[in-house]
Amino acid sequence: MKIGFIGTGFFAKKHASILGEMSGVEVTAFCGTSLEKAEGEARNCSNASGYTNVEEMLDKQKLDAVYICVPPMSHGSIEQTLIERGIPFFVEKPLGINDAPYEIAKKIEDQGLITSVGYHWRYLDLSKKALSLLQERQIGMALGYWMGDMPMVPWWRDVNKSGGQFVEQTTHIVDLLRFLCGEIKEVYAAFSSRMMADKVAGTTVSDVGSVTLKLNNGMIATISNTCILPESNKAGLDVYTNEGVIQISSNLLRDIRGKEMTEYRNQLDPYLIENKIFLDAVKAGDPTHILSSYKDAVKTHRVTLAAAHSAMTGEPVPLEMEE
Ligand SMILES: NC(=O)c1ccc[n+]([C@@H]2O[C@H](COP(=O)([O-])OP(=O)(O)OC[C@H]3O[C@@H](n4cnc5c(N)ncnc54)[C@H](O)[C@@H]3O)[C@@H](O)[C@H]2O)c1
Repeated sequence: MKIGFIGTGFFAKKHASILGEMSGVEVTAFCGTSLEKAEGEARNCSNASGYTNVEEMLDKQKLDAVYICVPPMSHGSIEQTLIERGIPFFVEKPLGINDAPYEIAKKIEDQGLITSVGYHWRYLDLSKKALSLLQERQIGMALGYWMGDMPMVPWWRDVNKSGGQFVEQTTHIVDLLRFLCGEIKEVYAAFSSRMMADKVAGTTVSDVGSVTLKLNNGMIATISNTCILPESNKAGLDVYTNEGVIQISSNLLRDIRGKEMTEYRNQLDPYLIENKIFLDAVKAGDPTHILSSYKDAVKTHRVTLAAAHSAMTGEPVPLEMEE
């Protein structure tokens, strides 16, 4: 399979290195914001070329699939071009910072295009474990967290480029909540800027925030985030049930029942699995095993945009999302 990349940064490198280890898969093209960066990445693969224009890359190469690994503000026309040409794509979260993903989702649906979104928490073996544990319990509520430091790529701190921490980063926890517990019907958020704007020039994102979510099934969840810390402290979801608490982070699940606690460690690399499942789906023309399609991910996007809107207006935002 011949694969192209759009974006030449941290996560394009991550996915390209995973693909580089797979047999029958060849990364043959990189499209970047400069030819220097695109050709620089291409040189790390044995038979790849660099481009600065998506159309040109697709005219010159017959690609089986494309990976979109660009910052949130750069989504939109890239996806539209791939849809027009009928090329399956893997896109990193978040889907964007505005309403454009809704129209993109509709076009993908109409065309039956295979897509996958980088909500990799779904591919943790711990998430599978949590799903099976939760099937046997009654869930009351959940508390989610993304408490950490500020990623120092310049676009992240600019709310007009990243959408802010909840849209850009904490979206993983919103998606995990939907995956494990169900759809969300109302969102209320309070965000504030406490100190990062004074510390890092150009910061317009809020640096603390708390979001309350009502689910269709009656559950309540809150998800909080901050980027004020010197280093990452905690990211995950705690689910409160009739039998105790299930705490999920990216490498550990704790099943706490009264004084008893069972710990499960994540065994498999979720990034490797999401890539393998996507490429197998493209090869077979069958998306059955993809856990985060564009159609599904757009619902997570809707929730995070609603939170940003609620934080701005001070009003709760109702959502109508079917299970
Ligand atoms: N799933 C995860 O765990 C995970 C982890 C890290 C990053 N990400 C996501 O991946 C995306 C990219 O993040 P990153 O860390 O690689 O950022 P980055 O800043 O390191 O790289 C982004 C790259 O995209 C390029 N770019 C911007 N607009 C472009 C365009 N229109 N065409 C081609 N290239 C363009 C930039 O020049 C840069 O090279 C973000 O949405 C981020 O949230 C996901």
